[in-house]
Amino acid sequence: MAQPVKVPSFNLSTCDAVEWLRSQPADSIDLLITDPAYESLEKHRAVGTTTRLKHSKASSNNWFSVFPNARFPELFAEVFRVLKRDTHFYLFCDAETMFVAKPEAERAGFRFWKPLVWDKRTIGMGYHYRSRYEFILFFEKGKRRLNDLGVPDIISSPRIHRGYPAEKPAAVSEILINQSSEPGDVVADPFMGSGSVGVAAVKLGRCFLGTDLNPDAVQLSAERLQFLAPGQAQGDVPAAAQPDLLGLASQP
Ligand SMILES: C[S@@+](CC[C@H](N)C(=O)[O-])C[C@H]1O[C@@H](n2cnc3c(N)ncnc32)[C@H](O)[C@@H]1O
Repeated sequence: MAQPVKVPSFNLSTCDAVEWLRSQPADSIDLLITDPAYESLEKHRAVGTTTRLKHSKASSNNWFSVFPNARFPELFAEVFRVLKRDTHFYLFCDAETMFVAKPEAERAGFRFWKPLVWDKRTIGMGYHYRSRYEFILFFEKGKRRLNDLGVPDIISSPRIHRGYPAEKPAAVSEILINQSSEPGDVVADPFMGSGSVGVAAVKLGRCFLGTDLNPDAVQLSAERLQFLAPGQAQGDVPAAAQPDLLGLASQP
């Protein structure tokens, strides 16, 4: 019998990343790409776990919460649990956090392949060599072949100006999604910010599941995604507690 065609869709919630992951079934997600709000972002100004970012006219909101490095073990354990067998996990990361995140993700069961470099093409802040790149750590659960073995480990794409704080270009996620998933697959981002991973996922015919603690981020993501695919955004209730209107939970 012919398989039903899966249409791209999205389902968003406003929730802590780890709590949201706990609400998802094991072995249910085909690809996870994420970009947590690292401690290092606020190294000089951090106070507790909620930190104000400098208010800027360029920002779509004033602040977001920092995710402490001490929570990496629970985060990576949940990411490993929700991913299906033979899948990939990509973690946007700066040079400082990479040394903390890599061994914790390995402890959770992932194989680390290598850091990819996102080359932003223009220089940013800093004194000791001004920053032009970020890392994307490439992990594997089980064994999965990349779809195109000719893609280089440096991904060049201009930084986003006047966007959400630390917004990543959807074009970077498009490369990762094309490499590590198929149309109809479920792609997730539990720190979705402006929803750039979701935009890339639904543009490429995938189903997107996302969450963020910040309601402004969820609203912004929903506004971007609603023009691309059918979907829904929920309040601060884990997705599994909501009716599965899109039938995502029953997907094989
Ligand atoms: C670096 S931003 C993500 C930017 C995103 N990649 C984009 O392209 O717009 C990190 C996000 O993590 C969110 N965040 C911080 N702590 C969180 C937590 N415990 N659970 C879920 N989201 C959290 C912040 O609100 C922020 O939107």
